[in-house]
Amino acid sequence: MRILIAFASLSGNTRDLARQVRARCEAAGHEVSWIEAGIHALADAGDPRHDLYLLGSWSDNGGRTPAEMKALIAELVAAVGRPSRLAVFGTGETQWGAEYYCGAVRRIAAFFGTAHPRLEIEQMPHGERDALEIQRWTDHVLAQAQPQAPPAPGMPSETATHADPARFVA
Ligand SMILES: Cc1cc2nc3c(=O)[nH]c(=O)nc-3n(C[C@H](O)[C@H](O)[C@H](O)COP(=O)(O)O)c2cc1C
Repeated sequence: MRILIAFASLSGNTRDLARQVRARCEAAGHEVSWIEAGIHALADAGDPRHDLYLLGSWSDNGGRTPAEMKALIAELVAAVGRPSRLAVFGTGETQWGAEYYCGAVRRIAAFFGTAHPRLEIEQMPHGERDALEIQRWTDHVLAQAQPQAPPAPGMPSETATHADPARFVA
C-alpha cells in the first residue's frame, strides 16, 4: 500500500513515535510518504491520494490539536476529503489530567470518525512495552486497511472473506 504518515511534533516525542510506525510499515513492504507539519506541505507527498493515512500529533493546552496540525488537516481534507482508511496516533502527558491526556489524538480521530483504534503513548516512546504496543497497533491497522483479496476463481465470495471480522477489533 501507499501510506501517508503526517504528524506534528514540538519537541520530538511524536516524531520518534512516527519513525517507529514508519519503520514497521516499511518492514512490511509498504511505501511511506512522510509529512511533518510546519516543515512540509501536503504537496511534498506528490499525489495526495493514499491507500492509508496515519495522522500523529502531540496535544496542546486543554488537550487541543496544535495549530500546525490543524493546518495540515485542512490541507488534507481539501485534497482527499475524510478518508475511512485513516488511523490516529500521538503522545501526551497524563499530568495534564485524564480528561486532556492525548486530547488531540481523540479530537482528530473523532473529526475523521475513524473506526481504527488510537495509539496513545506517554511522552517519548521508550522500553520494550512501548515498542511492542507500537508494533501491534501498526500491524493491526495495516491488516484492517489491506484491500480484500478478490475471491479465488470458482470460489463463492462468502467463503473467501473471514466469517468473523470482529476478530480484528482490538
Ligand atoms: C503548552 C503545552 C500544553 C500541553 N498540554 C497537554 C495536554 O493538554 N494534554 C496532554 O496529554 N499533553 C499536553 N502537553 C504535553 C505534550 O503533548 C507532550 O509532552 C508530547 O509528548 C509532546 O510531543 P512532541 O515532543 O512531539 O512535541 C502539553 C505540552 C505543552 C508544551
